[in-house]
Amino acid sequence: MDIKISPSMLASDFANLEAELKKCENAGADMIHLDVMDGHFVPNITIGAPVIKAMRAVCGVPFDVHLMISDPLKYIEDFADAGADVITFHVECSSDISKTIDKIIACGCKASLSVKPGTDIEAVYPYMDRLSMVLVMTVEPGFGGQSFMADMMPKIEKLRADYPEVDIQVDGGVNAETVKVCAKAGANVFVAGSAVFKSSDPAATIQLLKENAGNV
Ligand code: DX5
Ligand code: ZN
Repeated sequence: MDIKISPSMLASDFANLEAELKKCENAGADMIHLDVMDGHFVPNITIGAPVIKAMRAVCGVPFDVHLMISDPLKYIEDFADAGADVITFHVECSSDISKTIDKIIACGCKASLSVKPGTDIEAVYPYMDRLSMVLVMTVEPGFGGQSFMADMMPKIEKLRADYPEVDIQVDGGVNAETVKVCAKAGANVFVAGSAVFKSSDPAATIQLLKENAGNV
């Protein structure tokens, strides 16, 4: 499986988004993770499609948009038009899951479903034929900088055993150590917010994450 690192812009300097994106691009980031929160599905509010569109204009790396919103179906076109490449939404949301996946694909993006820590991985199984990625949350969604939940690893192991080809993404508390645990369980796409942006050398950190994920 291809190993991909997706720095989460939630931990970046919002006053200097262009410079922060360039930093990731030059450091070899495979995707850019963009956390969209609506203050309803999760307690926090972050950015929406207009900000992503502005970021798209100054960055050539694929955008991995993580929708933590209650009604994603309503906004898929907006995020696709803004330049999303992969759109992840939550199986716990209130939109029709099947229609939302179809909409993402019809808009020319790759579809991905995510499970919160309390949700069984089997919840995504009915949709696997149309998903290019599954995101297993390793924190409760809503905030950056939380501690990694190692007890989510059995979900990744099961999903990898049942679906050898799908991209499995992990998000929350991923750093140079926890990335090894996730990779060993079968994950191959790693979101890292604090680990990259709080590092004194983000490029070296991205390389280290890649190496550590590859050496398990
Ligand atoms: C949390 C977000 C994450 C967050 C990760 O709800 O989905 O993408 O930015 O941040 P770190 O890597 O700092 O845990
Ligand atoms: Zn995220």
